[in-house]
Amino acid sequence: MEKLSALILAAGAGTRMKSALPKVLHPILGKPMIKYILDVIRTIKLDNKIVIIGNQKELVKRNLEDEKDISFVIQDVQQGTGHAVMQVEKELENYNGNVLILYGDTPLLKKETIQNLIKSHNSTGAGVTILTCVMTDPTGYGRIIRNSQNEVIKITEEKDTTILEKKVKEINTGIYCFNSRKLFEMLKFLQPDNKQKELYLTDVIEMFSKKKYKINTQEAENQQEIMGINNRSELAKVSELIRKSILEYWMRNGVTIIHPESTFIDADVKIENDVTIYPFTIIEGKSIIKSNCIIGPFSYVKDSSLSNGVELNNSRVIKGIINKEAKVGPFANIRPGTVLEASTRIGNFCEIKKSHIGEGSKVSHLSYIGDSDIGKDVNIGAGTITCNFDGESKHKTIIEDNVFIGSNTNLIAPVSIKKGALVAAGSTITRNVPEKALGIAREKQFNIAEYNKKRKKKISHNK
Ligand code: UD1
Ligand code: CA
Repeated sequence: MEKLSALILAAGAGTRMKSALPKVLHPILGKPMIKYILDVIRTIKLDNKIVIIGNQKELVKRNLEDEKDISFVIQDVQQGTGHAVMQVEKELENYNGNVLILYGDTPLLKKETIQNLIKSHNSTGAGVTILTCVMTDPTGYGRIIRNSQNEVIKITEEKDTTILEKKVKEINTGIYCFNSRKLFEMLKFLQPDNKQKELYLTDVIEMFSKKKYKINTQEAENQQEIMGINNRSELAKVSELIRKSILEYWMRNGVTIIHPESTFIDADVKIENDVTIYPFTIIEGKSIIKSNCIIGPFSYVKDSSLSNGVELNNSRVIKGIINKEAKVGPFANIRPGTVLEASTRIGNFCEIKKSHIGEGSKVSHLSYIGDSDIGKDVNIGAGTITCNFDGESKHKTIIEDNVFIGSNTNLIAPVSIKKGALVAAGSTITRNVPEKALGIAREKQFNIAEYNKKRKKKISHNK
């Protein structure tokens, strides 16, 4: 087997993105653009994986920290694609094999296409194999120029094409498999004699042709796959294709998606079969959704895990853990650090923050529960508020198993309500309530006899 190394060019500024963020870090369905190509080549056996960085190199590097097997080569000034590849010469000094050239901004490229390119290169013994594509609209791409024997003689960049060359529909995808020795031999001769005053990697092709090094081409199966992202409009187009392919994948794996047009699922989300997702639902980050969950409509889940049979309706969960068969919503806001145990029930207009809600407990209406630890089978009445913040720091509320909190209660934290206790509706609780006790903290009611009768009489008299 020939040796194989991959270079991923990612040093460019991505000027057309008009962004402070380097182009290759722009997320697509929650994943930085460059990670798509890195994920694809993970399935290919490689001797070296080199990412060429330059623009905001530290930031790019930091975002790729978890990619253990890649090395970085720096191209400090971006003088063109040929110049970029020249920077790895030292890294590959004693290397003799093939070099695969890829880009950080082509997230749709498929593993099969790369494999076919390598296969074709190896079987023809070519000096270079160019991945080409016949485009309905070739605007912007380098054109593959052939002689009368149909042999490739050069690649001409759009900006440098003649009128005749501009009509060529066969384009350079920018993806190649090179013989490393021949590549580095020719790179030395590159000259910036073109409109952009850059060292074009594409110019190496003409040199190969003149040297009679075999130039082979392999055609990409579809035009979409090789699409590079240069601006935000292309970012949106590519994102849309990836969004659809993610949904397609999950539908084929047994997930019901009622309305794919309004459903967004990030690339790193995991979903089990027999989950149903209703319209206008967004599931982001590293969320995990287990079997038989029903999510949506109008729901947002981020970096959360939902266990079997959870129902989440018109609600949001961020960094939360929701256990078996819990029911959330409509209109609930589950904020970071919350764990809802099995069979809990969080109802409409409830906000839960950094709290643990024990099995079978219910917070059914209009409540705020923050920094709280709630036991099993607790009932939190409508309108209960944990007053966790005194203006300076946050305090904890502890509610033990089988407690019943009456409606419209304020629990001034830090405070504990012990096992089996009862808190009367309308109480403002400032002290702990002992086990099985009743805590009541509200004004005593008194009734004034006949008061309203007299009042009504008075009103009618004055009319
Ligand atoms: C390049 C090809 C063109 C091909 C097209 C396919 C050249 C000269 N042209 O053009 O034939 O049709 O890709 O999309 O190669 N980069 C660096 N350092 C540099 C310059 C670029 O790392 O000094 C990186 C960029 O970050 C980018 C990639 O190389 O990821 C391609 O550069 P770009 O300027 O976008 O090339 P194109 O003009 O698209
Ligand atoms: Ca490009």
